Amino acid sequence: MSQQRIKELVDELNYHNHRYYVLDDPEISDAEYDRRMRELVALENTYPEFILPESPTQRVGGRRSDVFEPVTHALHMLSLDNALNEDEIVEFDARTRRTLGNSKPLEYVCEPKLDGLAVELVYANGFLTVASTRGDGITGENVTQNIRTIKSVPIKLLSAKGGVPERLDVRGEVILGYKEFAKLNQEREENGEPTFANPRNAAAGSLRQLDSAITASRPLDIYCYGIGQFSGINLTSQWDVLQSLRAFGLKTNPLADKVVGIEQVKTYHQEMLERRETLSYDIDGIVVKVNSLSLQQQLGSKTKSPRWAIAYKFPARQETTQVLDIIAQVGRTGTLTPVARMRSVNVSGVDVSRATLHNQDEIDRKDVRIGDWVVVQRAGDVIPEIVKVIFSKRTGREKKYTLPATCPVCGSETIRLAGEAAQRCINLACPAQVKERIYHFASKGAMDIDGLGTRLVDQLVETGLVKDVADIYDLTLEQLAGLDRMAHKSAENVLNAINKSKKQTLDRFLFALGIRFVGEHVARVLIRAFKNLDRLASASKEDLMAVHEIGPQVAESVVDFFASDENRHVLQRLKQRGVEMKPIEEKGTSKILENKTLVFTGTLQTLSRKEAQTITEERGGHAASSVSKNTDYIVVGENAGSKATKATELGITKLTETEFRKMIGLD
Ligand code: IVH
Repeated sequence: MSQQRIKELVDELNYHNHRYYVLDDPEISDAEYDRRMRELVALENTYPEFILPESPTQRVGGRRSDVFEPVTHALHMLSLDNALNEDEIVEFDARTRRTLGNSKPLEYVCEPKLDGLAVELVYANGFLTVASTRGDGITGENVTQNIRTIKSVPIKLLSAKGGVPERLDVRGEVILGYKEFAKLNQEREENGEPTFANPRNAAAGSLRQLDSAITASRPLDIYCYGIGQFSGINLTSQWDVLQSLRAFGLKTNPLADKVVGIEQVKTYHQEMLERRETLSYDIDGIVVKVNSLSLQQQLGSKTKSPRWAIAYKFPARQETTQVLDIIAQVGRTGTLTPVARMRSVNVSGVDVSRATLHNQDEIDRKDVRIGDWVVVQRAGDVIPEIVKVIFSKRTGREKKYTLPATCPVCGSETIRLAGEAAQRCINLACPAQVKERIYHFASKGAMDIDGLGTRLVDQLVETGLVKDVADIYDLTLEQLAGLDRMAHKSAENVLNAINKSKKQTLDRFLFALGIRFVGEHVARVLIRAFKNLDRLASASKEDLMAVHEIGPQVAESVVDFFASDENRHVLQRLKQRGVEMKPIEEKGTSKILENKTLVFTGTLQTLSRKEAQTITEERGGHAASSVSKNTDYIVVGENAGSKATKATELGITKLTETEFRKMIGLD
């Protein structure tokens, strides 16, 4: 279904490209073209395995007004050859030494091989100017705005070795840790969005977002492992590269090590294999690199991969087992998620008996049937997945599975909308959905109602006392105390917690409503921009998209939510019951310059000196008139003079006006 839709969109878009570029006779508007392009990007993000080579997203210089611009890497981003066993790594070492005419053991740098997404960060005079994905190695996509949301990526390099390089192209891997991945998938499941198959896909999907607020809400991380083009610094070895990257403030992997000879490479591989289970992110092997840069140059590269490095992979963590049953779980938005129950099997130390099958497409694509023998795989702590069916073990008695036409919880009809991967129960009052909405509303990051946990919510929904979130505020002590296994004192505590939640901050309240794509971060961005709920509720898609970080997906979802009479009614009832909708607390949000001393120099384009000073003070900072070692930032406008020079000498972080505006959330 999604695969078919991707194909349709690719064909349509290619047809319209031809009309536009070749025939100069477009049939559809740019806006219409963009709409389809966005749908395609969103689908490809979720199902990277279905990306077609002829997809316009894969093309360099396609007609991509506001999708992703192509970026050509100054030096090609190569890939790596693999060594799959000890013989192959020994052979790599022998070959390398032969080529170099070297009989002595070679010095190598060994690093964990992270399983994420390769990116390149271009730093010019210390500032991050462009960030791009690897793409085909020659040209990638411009994801600068999204990369800027990753907290471990410095916007400005630290001064080291007497300054910053004139130019430094940094290569690294963007990853999502297991915990973050599990949390994201859980949220997606609750929201009725298709889940990601593994952390790698999730990292890639998160980086290729049109709304950088969505990227910002996903705790991506980066480990830098190499460089492309550079000037203005002197580097002699890979080890030196890693130390320098670290000194410039970039995050490198502390597990990297310098070794001598192949025996030590083997030991490092074994050590990492053992460490693998304890790491918070996925690694699929180690990378072995000849340390000396001049030897690297001597060895050179093939078309796609260097001769001076190789990936020494780990064996896959896979086992075979049998699917006993497939069941459908119902989430907050009614999405039915098929889950395979399997004969329990131990996959490298962990018992596995369930695997998510994501959606009907996935079941069909893999052709998984009840009774099938399958290969299961564990990518660290994450939900195990079914890699493939062992068709040779089929007996003919296996049963095909289709998600039910009626909801397993409430019996209502289930439907699948065009272009959507998920099949949903359309009954908004379905107890499974109501329960999920209320769990979410009362949960920690949301309204934080102590004592209103899943067990109590289940009881409240099942006894009919609560049908929507507003009903929570009508509960009486008698009703609560009258529930099974509820002591009078506990009932009182819950009631107090419910009352206390009426004073919750507005950003948490907005998050608690469970609007699609509105996680904690997006909720804060929206409340900061609109200040109160009424203004947010009446905002148009354009108003929303004018807010920095907010793109079409979030905007549409917010507009849809407030357009619903039912939602407006619940909001009104919440208000009547005294749920205060207080604006966000200033502290911790706009006080981002707390205790910071800033100096402004040169002519600023969008702010007067006075305005800049006021803005700084409003955010808890102090605007000083001269540079000293206590200065935290210097904001440099046009025709800046001696202050800027002095700041450079003292190694103070320099910001352009645009960077300053971004930093404090003005843009
Ligand atoms: S070095 C020419 N180092 O593996 C050197 N790559 O299969 C090429 N990767 O595209 C890359 N961890 O995405 C290097 N420590 C590491 C790495 C690493 C993960 C990825 C990277 C690359 C792929 C090649």
